Amino acid sequence: MIERPQVSESEMLRQREYMKLVKAIGERPQTYHIVSMGCQMNERDSESIAGMLEQMGMRCEPVREQADLILYNTCCVRENAENKALGNVIWLKELKKDKPELLICVGGCMTQEKGMAETMKKRYPFIDLIYGTHNLYRLPEYLYRVLRDRTPVVEVVETDGEVVEGMPEKRASAFSAYVNIMYGCNNFCTYCIVPYVRGRERSREPEAVIEEALRLRDQGVQEIMLLGQNVNSYRGGGAEFANLLYRLDRLEIPRIRFMTSHPKDLSDELIGAYAELKHLMPHLHLPVQAGSNEILKAMNRRYTREHYLDLVSRLRAARPDIGITTDIIVGFPGETLSQFEETMSLVNEVRYDSAYTFIYSPRTGTKAASMPDDTPAEVKSERIQRLIARQQEITAEILSGMVGSRQTVLVESVSARDEGWVGGKTPRAIMVNFPGDASLIGRLVEVEITSAGRNTLRGRLI
Ligand code: 5AD
Ligand code: SF4
Repeated sequence: MIERPQVSESEMLRQREYMKLVKAIGERPQTYHIVSMGCQMNERDSESIAGMLEQMGMRCEPVREQADLILYNTCCVRENAENKALGNVIWLKELKKDKPELLICVGGCMTQEKGMAETMKKRYPFIDLIYGTHNLYRLPEYLYRVLRDRTPVVEVVETDGEVVEGMPEKRASAFSAYVNIMYGCNNFCTYCIVPYVRGRERSREPEAVIEEALRLRDQGVQEIMLLGQNVNSYRGGGAEFANLLYRLDRLEIPRIRFMTSHPKDLSDELIGAYAELKHLMPHLHLPVQAGSNEILKAMNRRYTREHYLDLVSRLRAARPDIGITTDIIVGFPGETLSQFEETMSLVNEVRYDSAYTFIYSPRTGTKAASMPDDTPAEVKSERIQRLIARQQEITAEILSGMVGSRQTVLVESVSARDEGWVGGKTPRAIMVNFPGDASLIGRLVEVEITSAGRNTLRGRLI
């Protein structure tokens, strides 16, 4: 893989100057509210956005309607994500009628789609700023222009993107942190829009990743989640990703996790890391997408069912307690009943802890969008219902098997439903609820599992 250039330090300094300029403007927004849609990469970007806005003198307003600046960080991976974003934006028009000084910003994957920014500009002239995925770091400059000229700014650049270091940040959690290790995707799975909106793969330098992890450790972070569209091709693939994990393991941060892995690039070294590394949690999200080799081929996934099953058995041999989760698409163009049955049988064979299941959603510009698709929507819906029902049974069986065990839980939050209860995750990333109070948040505690629900466990503090 080609190493991509980094946005220069002088450019980042220039943006810091714009932050100061915005801060000095008399009539500027005092508060902001960010709506983050889609995946963890967007959540991480939202932390950078929050950091920049804070440097511009704004503070977070938890109630969206009361904020002076509302920013939508959008997703476009499926049509319903896009519809949700557009629906929200249309609603903002009403809000702006009552509050003309409200600033509306829309960025992220949806605005990066070909032609989308221009369409939005025409249809929704009340949006003050539209930017894409590649130029997020220039938000201060764009906001300055919006405030100075009082006219909308639309800036979406067509580039494969660069690595950006040194953006301000306001982390959502004090004890669990996302750490980007790479951006973009080169795989062009035929259904997927991500490579078109996030650009080509580019990796951060390992030293930059380690430095960030060290800083987080020193701040008391208990868990890091490494992020990339395809972490297994970090710096071009091979053993590079496993090497990074070995280096990070030595920092003694209690928990290391990562997202997302592509099965075609999962290396022997990574399987070895699961056997050896103390802090690498026994959980792997390994999207399979389909159980039929014909469908996998049409999806351009570049692995077979047999290869995938072999990976699963080798991972389990290396780390017997590993929990595997997955993504599955139902109703890919041309999927026959017997091909769907192969997905069902794969799910039975692997026995995932849980699965995210999606009905195929055609995305403009992708190869699959022009493939003939004659399966009626009701049939696709029946198939996904069957799949969900079967996975729920498997999840319930796996969770029941954990009753009576002792688990280390990283406490995340107090329960919104049950007063006096808190919730957190096991090493396998299964949610456990148990009686406790807010003082436990951010701590690793020992819990005995007393019962299993549909997707979560219940327990008591030991
Ligand atoms: N339709 C349905 N699901 C999709 N995904 C990606 N693109 C599509 C699409 N066009 C799913 C895949 C991926 C997850 C993040 O979203 O399962 O792994
Ligand atoms: Fe999309 Fe495939 Fe890249 Fe994942 S690996 S982001 S599914 S193209």
